[in-house]
Amino acid sequence: MADLTKSGILNALKKVDDSNFNKDLLILNSIKKFELKKDKLLLDISIAMPSSSLSDELKEKFIQVLKNEFTDLKKIELNIETKVTSHQDKKKEALLPGVKNTIAVASGKGGVGKSTVAVNLAVALAKDGASVGLIDADIYGPSIPLMLGINEKPKVYQNQQSMKIIPLENYGVKVISIGLLLDDNAPVIWRGPMASGAVKQFMSDVDWGELDYLIFDLPPGTGDIQLTLVQTIPLTGAVIVTTPQEVSLIDARKALKMFSRVNVPVLGIIENMSYFIAPDTGKSYDIFGSGGGEKISKELTTPFLGGIPIDPRIRIGGDNGKPMVYDNPDSEHANIITGISRHLVDQVNLRNLQADSDSKIEILLDDNN
Ligand SMILES: Nc1ncnc2c1ncn2[C@@H]1O[C@H](COP(=O)(O)OP(=O)(O)O)[C@@H](O)[C@H]1O
Ligand SMILES: [Mg+2]
Repeated sequence: MADLTKSGILNALKKVDDSNFNKDLLILNSIKKFELKKDKLLLDISIAMPSSSLSDELKEKFIQVLKNEFTDLKKIELNIETKVTSHQDKKKEALLPGVKNTIAVASGKGGVGKSTVAVNLAVALAKDGASVGLIDADIYGPSIPLMLGINEKPKVYQNQQSMKIIPLENYGVKVISIGLLLDDNAPVIWRGPMASGAVKQFMSDVDWGELDYLIFDLPPGTGDIQLTLVQTIPLTGAVIVTTPQEVSLIDARKALKMFSRVNVPVLGIIENMSYFIAPDTGKSYDIFGSGGGEKISKELTTPFLGGIPIDPRIRIGGDNGKPMVYDNPDSEHANIITGISRHLVDQVNLRNLQADSDSKIEILLDDNN
């Protein structure tokens, strides 16, 4: 029988095989309490994953590996708590004290489906039980309110110290868009300073409350405006959306470089418009080529979060303000996007856990014992 210590338990739990569970997220701090009462184990663990990923089936798998490993145990009482980890950052604490993580959705090039991906990711995260906000910072083509079926203006209230904007909300996602402030006829040359001013205001004057994830739909490209924005926002990380074809990949590489220049981690690459399955024949067509997203993620050692196929329902969902993951929750496409959102959560958690010096210290101490 393996040793009934924190490390022994952890090593056993790492044997759990389940697509919803990433073993790298188990650290010594995951074990909140363990108590042995004769042949009964009482175990409380906390894992950084969305609450909806935890099922009775997964819990049963945990109990099973513990039983296999610690054969003397007659009874195991297991409590699993799921939690969203928080990015520790002084600037974020000052600007967005209630927000645990901030994620930029970026692309080197327009029209690759950045906003579609941002909206569907936000809704997928909210469906998984996270509290989510979305800031539409794309001065060239703000489209988030339309894609989320929102057409009213946000309300403003005055509290003792200042004026606060109440974000709009649909499908469980709180939203503010730069489109609500932009004069449609304003020349693009005015839009740069406007963008960083507005985004600063969105961070300080919007009443976001407590959020697990605040997502920013950035303007496409890697120019001065984008660079200023990624320096203004205290980012946990960025995801880059690209289509599989070479022209889009060239720009995706530039986006990656921009983030590394300002020390913002790239959490992963999402390939959009990966392939098209003809509804009549079921045959798959690589309209924009194939494998490009995976290729550049290997080349730049950045996680590949997944590929989203082309589907008219995704486009229609955007135009009608009914995101695919909400409107067709059981479709294969919704599953793909939900899978991508969970990979993204994993990446955020891994970054946060690695940065959490407390858990590192505990691992070191235990190694010396
Ligand atoms: N996977 C997809 N399948 C079908 N249409 C898509 C898909 N992704 C995006 N679109 C459509 O392509 C157009 C551009 O997408 P959008 O998200 O606005 O791109 P961006 O924000 O990068 O400019 C929109 O009409 C959108 O509905
Ligand atoms: Mg867009």
